[in-house]
Amino acid sequence: MKKNNIENQVLVIFGSNGDLAKRKLVPAVFQLFLEKLLPERFVVIGAGSQDKDEVAFRFDVKETMHTFATKSIVGNEEKLEDFLQSVYYKKVNNQSEEDFFSLSTYIDLLSDKLQITKNIVYYFSIPPFLYDVVAANLVKCGLNVEEDGWKRIIVEKPFGYSYDSAIELDKKLHNGFNEDQIYRIDHYLGKETVQNIMVTRFSNGFFEPIWNRKYVDRIEITASEKIGVGNRGGYYDTSGALRDMIQNHLLQVLAVVAMEPPVVFDSDAIRNETVKVLQAIRPMRSSEVSNYVVRGQYISGEVNNEPQKAYRQEKGVAPNSKTETFVALKLFIDNWRWGDVPFYIRTGKQLPDRVTEVVIHLKPAPHQLFKQLCLTEPSNLIILRIHPDAGVAVDFGMKIPGAGFKVQNVNMAFHYSDLADKKIAEAYERLILDCMIGDSTLYARADAVKASWKFVDTILNAWKNDPEIPLYFYECNTWGPKESNNLFDEKFMKWRNPFSKFKTE
Ligand code: BG6
Repeated sequence: MKKNNIENQVLVIFGSNGDLAKRKLVPAVFQLFLEKLLPERFVVIGAGSQDKDEVAFRFDVKETMHTFATKSIVGNEEKLEDFLQSVYYKKVNNQSEEDFFSLSTYIDLLSDKLQITKNIVYYFSIPPFLYDVVAANLVKCGLNVEEDGWKRIIVEKPFGYSYDSAIELDKKLHNGFNEDQIYRIDHYLGKETVQNIMVTRFSNGFFEPIWNRKYVDRIEITASEKIGVGNRGGYYDTSGALRDMIQNHLLQVLAVVAMEPPVVFDSDAIRNETVKVLQAIRPMRSSEVSNYVVRGQYISGEVNNEPQKAYRQEKGVAPNSKTETFVALKLFIDNWRWGDVPFYIRTGKQLPDRVTEVVIHLKPAPHQLFKQLCLTEPSNLIILRIHPDAGVAVDFGMKIPGAGFKVQNVNMAFHYSDLADKKIAEAYERLILDCMIGDSTLYARADAVKASWKFVDTILNAWKNDPEIPLYFYECNTWGPKESNNLFDEKFMKWRNPFSKFKTE
């Protein structure tokens, strides 16, 4: 990772005692520290509702690191002690204006004592209903003012709950922060392998010429998870898979897969192209929703002989919940490159494997000379594997050695791990560092967020207003409701069920 233009600064994490901060944010900052990517003068201030001092907070951070950052800790105990010297804590009730004034005084104090310019990143690792409250409190105390150093806010997902609420939230944030101060995080964009999709496409001469409606038959994007909702039932039941995964992560991946090549590699140029894809998604009529979208919810089942709870039995979930834990949908991008090429997107919890991948199905050769001799259905695929076993694979037919002309599909795979001489950076490391540097390329811009809500809203409204649209149930450890295969126009087509390791079918 890069360390250019990184100025001395303060990182304030609101919600510092929460799950995200413990599991991802603090370990990411520590990793940046280990890699000497943090500025010379730097402090992290944990801002949380619990009453504790910095000694207690440092102790908590130390414990957290031993639980969630075990690999970084090995052999680095002393460095952890050094890092902890830059960790501070301030009790802040997010709803109390008074507490923000005392946070402001605290920041003044630290910046004077440690001679740190008041360049500040505020990370909102808090429940979404508090985003505008915290932003407003920062503004009231002048903590957004850039006279004495820049100020940036990182806002976690979900950004809004619907199109209208996203616009409303955006307005509220702009009431004190300019667009270039607002960083809407989507951790999928921080994944090395999502960025590598751009490199695959735009740094090679041979992918791009076939990356269009002339050669591509259809594109599948799958993000399957093995786990259920665990202890996040309360949140998830108000969200569902469409809001939780598709509105943000998977539509962003779609945008990167389908975008036009930007003229230069900078934040505006790239985001100008990705937003065009989202704006070109063909709008669905409510009456079409059940033809284009299949939703499902997991019921009990078994994984390795262990019984699994049904979604409705999970903690925090309503016993008659209609929230979807699985969505499969078909959409079209109405532009010259993709006219009439179907894109299939699918995500779900309690599926047999944890895999995220994009599969480009190329059109078959115009004349199938060896069709009768193929041992499997001939297929030409480009597979962009995001997780796990990240990499790129190509599937094609080859002659089986020996007499005759028997053809079999084979697979040529590049594994990203072969390229990395050290650990591949976690998405949060990359994204936090980018915000510290002021690079918003990998953050979602307001127009993109709005465009994706616009698409998703039609589906959500149809589900809400039309009780006839079915919610299909699927057993844990299966690939979701079989009805998801009905999205394909042709009977012989079905979802490619991915495996943890690249493997052909
Ligand atoms: C989060 C969702 O944004 O992404 C979770 O809220 C989901 O429900 C997670 O499990 C998936 O991320 P990853 O990086 O594990 O694929």
